[in-house]
Amino acid sequence: MRTLQRTLAIIKPDAVSKRAAGHIVSMILENGFNIIGVKMLHLTKEQAEGFYAVHAGKPFFHSLANFMSSGPCVVLALEKEGDAIPAWRKLMGATNPANAEEGTVRKRFAESIERNAVHGSDAEDTARWELSYFFAGYELAK
Ligand code: CMP
Repeated sequence: MRTLQRTLAIIKPDAVSKRAAGHIVSMILENGFNIIGVKMLHLTKEQAEGFYAVHAGKPFFHSLANFMSSGPCVVLALEKEGDAIPAWRKLMGATNPANAEEGTVRKRFAESIERNAVHGSDAEDTARWELSYFFAGYELAK
């Protein structure tokens, strides 16, 4: 039986502003993901804080919310057979680009641990919550 897993990806404002979004979308498609939803958004600081609420209280929280609301980002709903969540995290590379492997998005496009080009959900429950933060059910392709 085919089991499709979904995850949320964000192409962050640093990558959008350096015109890397198209390249990152190509990497996503070349690695076997289906894109079942996509939108370009310029988040408010409050919307960015809401998305990253799990990090409220961390020293980087306000800086992260400022950065994520500094320009447009592209949010994508991804689907892949079996393992979309770990597969997208592997393709992104380590959070800190200093530790990212060759061939990953962050190795190629990230500037720092904060301006790190992309986001991906880390587990099934967070993927469900993050997808619902940006997409209504009817906005996702069947
Ligand atoms: P992301 O995968 O979007 O999840 C949370 C984000 O917080 C992370 O990518 C980084 O952009 C940011 N982040 C995590 N740790 C730090 C840190 N130590 N300093 C600054 N930003 C961080």
